[in-house]
Amino acid sequence: MQKIVVVTGVSRGLGLELCRQYLAEGARVYGCCRSPEQSQKLLELKRSAGHQFELVPLDITQPGMIHNLQYVIEEPIDILINNAGIYGPFGLSYDEVTVDPWMEVLRVDTVAPMMVTQALVDKVARGHDKKIIMMSSKMGSMGDNQKGGSYLYRSAKAALNAVARSLAIDLAEKGISVGIVHPGWVQTDMGGVNALIDTETSIRGIRKVIDQLSLRNSGQFISYDGSVIPW
Ligand SMILES: NC(=O)c1ccc[n+]([C@@H]2O[C@H](COP(=O)([O-])OP(=O)(O)OC[C@H]3O[C@@H](n4cnc5c(N)ncnc54)[C@H](OP(=O)(O)O)[C@@H]3O)[C@@H](O)[C@H]2O)c1
Repeated sequence: MQKIVVVTGVSRGLGLELCRQYLAEGARVYGCCRSPEQSQKLLELKRSAGHQFELVPLDITQPGMIHNLQYVIEEPIDILINNAGIYGPFGLSYDEVTVDPWMEVLRVDTVAPMMVTQALVDKVARGHDKKIIMMSSKMGSMGDNQKGGSYLYRSAKAALNAVARSLAIDLAEKGISVGIVHPGWVQTDMGGVNALIDTETSIRGIRKVIDQLSLRNSGQFISYDGSVIPW
């Protein structure tokens, strides 16, 4: 049976590679993105994939656009991947942090994935696989934080982990499992050129983690290589 996969933030980086690999696997993919027409790589992928790949305009900070998703995506969803995210202003020390940029990072990285999930959860419940993935980061781990800094991003991903953990518990009765995934340090616009792995390696690992996700291991914080990350 053909899988139906929905991914947010597909214009570049990990979101684009998620689409590429799931399409290659034969899935039907809904790729959500703020400005599809501005990403040449995305448009190329759309040209080669044809009707197997639907592009859906979505800014995850816009409630109206999130609400519309349930009408744009009519079929049951096997895997929903909340991938879109931002880091926020780079290199702020503790005395440089201000309210508005922090609120924006929390809005995109923590609140929006919950709102997208709310809008689509009934369709995931009707899917065969019934999986929801939150693209988190090791930067949200308390146990792993030895370097300090990154206040906005760390707090937003830590809060996302708390949200995802509750969802894993609350959605189990619908048969839905929730994966909280760290993609590694990846060469993307966010990860930078010095990052350790490429998008192909990261997403190959993440697809395996998603394949192995079930109600039994729902709500765990897992790296792309399958290892469990401390909270
Ligand atoms: N790269 C890493 O090393 C790394 C490590 C840990 C976790 N992550 C996480 O992995 C995810 C993907 O990161 P990446 O490295 O691929 O980052 P990226 O290259 O910067 O791509 C981010 C994606 O998110 C989209 N996005 C941002 N704000 C959005 C909004 N308001 N509405 C809709 N889409 C929005 C961007 O769309 P536009 O093109 O429209 O801006 C873009 O497609 C993020 O959640 C990130 O936190 C990445």
